[in-house]
Amino acid sequence: MKIFRACFCLGLAFCLASDALPAAEMAAPALVPLPQKIAAETGSLTFSTDTKIMVNKGAAETGRRLAAEWKRRTGAELPVKRGSARGGGAIQLTVDESAGEYGDEGYALKVAPDGVSIRARTAAGAFYGAQSLMQLLPLHAGSDGKWTIPAVSIEDQPRFKWRGLMLDVSRHFFTKSEVETLLDAMASLKLNVFHWHLVDDQGWRIEIKKYPLLTSMGAWRKAVGFKLDPAATTAYGPDGRYGGFYTQNDIREVVAYAAARHIMVVPEIEMPGHSSAALMAYPQFSCTGGPFTADLPGGVFNGVYCVGNDASLEFVENVLAEVFDLFPSPYVHIGGDEVDTANWKHCAKCQARMKQEGLTKESELESYFIRRVEKFVNAHHKNLVGWSEIREGGLAANATVMDWVGGAVEAATAGHDVVMAPLADCYFDHYQSRDHTTEPHAIGGYLPLSQVYAFEPIPTNLPPQFQAHILGAQANLWTEYIPNFKHVEYMIFPRLCALAEVTWSPKAARNWPDFNRRLETECALLDAAGVNHRALK
Ligand code: ACM
Ligand code: ZN
Repeated sequence: MKIFRACFCLGLAFCLASDALPAAEMAAPALVPLPQKIAAETGSLTFSTDTKIMVNKGAAETGRRLAAEWKRRTGAELPVKRGSARGGGAIQLTVDESAGEYGDEGYALKVAPDGVSIRARTAAGAFYGAQSLMQLLPLHAGSDGKWTIPAVSIEDQPRFKWRGLMLDVSRHFFTKSEVETLLDAMASLKLNVFHWHLVDDQGWRIEIKKYPLLTSMGAWRKAVGFKLDPAATTAYGPDGRYGGFYTQNDIREVVAYAAARHIMVVPEIEMPGHSSAALMAYPQFSCTGGPFTADLPGGVFNGVYCVGNDASLEFVENVLAEVFDLFPSPYVHIGGDEVDTANWKHCAKCQARMKQEGLTKESELESYFIRRVEKFVNAHHKNLVGWSEIREGGLAANATVMDWVGGAVEAATAGHDVVMAPLADCYFDHYQSRDHTTEPHAIGGYLPLSQVYAFEPIPTNLPPQFQAHILGAQANLWTEYIPNFKHVEYMIFPRLCALAEVTWSPKAARNWPDFNRRLETECALLDAAGVNHRALK
């Protein structure tokens, strides 16, 4: 028996035996993210023209999805049948609700010379098993025209339950089908949270029936802005204005598309700051009465809701009520970052509110606002998520903190859940190289692939008893300087592959050289799917 590659996996030497396989099929498995346990077995499985996908009831949807993906990759239509078939080369998918050992999202995958078996406790686990199978499938059929996978045994479950990506569609707008393309790529990397930043100063992107001006006015600005080439985008309306928005039907379709891939969509409706586009449409909910514009560069602006005015709170609650109907996610993100409090300082209503509530600092007025919004959110059986700054004037009772500039340790030790998205490690709008001449213009910063891969979501100074409050981590893609979708993909890949491994795989299994080896296969898969990415060096 020849051993041609050994990798470290959970402290075990992992070896592939090559004797039984023709040379073309000797590639070691190249899964991203790396599974918890993976071991090569003897032999290989060659799929035939009558390979079937066999499913039980709980795995039926995963079976259909696997068949669609199989067709995209190989051109072959595999029938999906209810029942079980031992051997005969079948792909057997089983969801067994009593199989607690697989957890909420785990699976066992066995590829043997006589067939494939994927077992899980949940449909999500079976789905992730199917994603692994599709990564094991080679890019091309062998010289005999057949598709062959080396035999392998995998047992797998994720390290974290929040494995996310945020996309800012306000600074630049991306279509429903572009968003769906991203969801497909996320699913193949076993990511499960899409944080949709739908609202910011430069554009309001979600239809709200009660307030039609939010999209008829707030979704549009005069030009692409940010000193970018007008030809760098096609997101223009018939009147030449830059922008766009999602109808409520579009939103429902994206949410369903994501759910079919076991991705939760968390909407972000920014408040009380970063709200110029909303206040351009409804200036009566500001302190000054406006006017406001969405024709803004990047930065922090005074488009901020008046917290002294109950009508502003009623407005945001009415907006959120429609948002709750569209998104089944138990979480809603309300922003809360970078609030310019200058208007509050000069507003009689805001000052009266502070006096009446015994507040001395404007950061406490922000907390007053967030707490009121949280009551509304919780009354609708949802959890409020906000950026780091929501802690500053006192954290709302049940809030989840999204740490971009600190606060994780303080929030977690106080019993709050936290999602890690630190500026230094998770901001995918930052440059991928120090040599800016080889990169598209970016907002600044420097976040190489190696730094994402080295990122550890659990803060080193967080005592063990609070670590379960770190739900996971996500990448953030702000799009001030990213006017089209190919550029979005370029900024996301391959860095998202590293984030997937950080959030899914065991910490002890992280291995930079081996990740780079596996990434070559992953990038070839992205190429085959038409997904743009930064070239591997
Ligand atoms: C942020 O980057 N302002 C959350
Ligand atoms: Zn005010």
